[in-house]
Amino acid sequence: MAGSTLEIKDLHVEIDGKEILKGVNLTINTGEFHAVMGPNGTGKSTLASAIMGHPKYEVTQGSIHIDGKDVLEMEVDERAKAGLFLAMQYPSEISGVTNSDFLRSSINARREEGDEIPLMKFIKEMDGTMDFLEMDKNMAQRYLNEGFSGGEKKRNEILQLMLLKPAIAILDEIDSGLDIDALKVVSKGINKMRGEDFGCLIITHYQRLLEYVTPDKVHVMMQGRVVKSGGPELAQKLEAEGYDWIKEELGIEDETVGQEA
Ligand SMILES: Nc1ncnc2c1ncn2[C@@H]1O[C@H](COP(=O)(O)OP(=O)(O)O)[C@@H](O)[C@H]1O
Ligand SMILES: [Mg+2]
Repeated sequence: MAGSTLEIKDLHVEIDGKEILKGVNLTINTGEFHAVMGPNGTGKSTLASAIMGHPKYEVTQGSIHIDGKDVLEMEVDERAKAGLFLAMQYPSEISGVTNSDFLRSSINARREEGDEIPLMKFIKEMDGTMDFLEMDKNMAQRYLNEGFSGGEKKRNEILQLMLLKPAIAILDEIDSGLDIDALKVVSKGINKMRGEDFGCLIITHYQRLLEYVTPDKVHVMMQGRVVKSGGPELAQKLEAEGYDWIKEELGIEDETVGQEA
């Protein structure tokens, strides 16, 4: 399989008429792990939602392309089919749909009609992956995310990731609320995906996850823009020193930071 590229250029996004993203530039190739860090309310989740086509997020300027194709012209399901995947910061609960049925229909939605995954093959893959992620098998038959603990939800997002095998994944705060054992399992899953057919954008507040999943590049987002990029050492510096030095370095004025959505 040829590699993929997600290219975001000068992206401006508004929510309810308020500009949240003010010109984001970011390019992610398969084979690469990128991390985006930044204070609360700087628009990290907004970036993720805009890429996936959430209707509330209006792109007013700029472009998103995957392999040269215009993502902004695509419906949500077409974006998934084009190879994009989002693990949400707050995964939704869907009552009445079992986890297993949801997974299988998500896989099939990305395949051509008539080329659905055989049931036995699906079950075998799901079972094996749940073992790998140290998940209780009865999670497969429960309604999607309903009553799942925070850690179970995040593990389940990684289960989806590993079964769907997207070209480019966005993982929004996949480490939030995890205890150390769950963090290790989630990291193991992300690391297992590493390869020339997979690229990843890891959104996180904390350097903690990045001790287990080493990013190739780290980007700092502030006030709706990527203001600084570097290697893994940048994440360590942020952990130790916070964000003030970047503000000083770049002459960014403090403004009221929005509430985290
Ligand atoms: N669905 C929404 N409706 C209204 N405001 C939102 C919504 N999503 C995000 N915002 C606002 O946009 C800003 C950026 O939020 P978000 O992208 O969630 O930040 P981050 O993920 O970096 O913490 C915040 O001020 C937040 O309140
Ligand atoms: Mg967020």
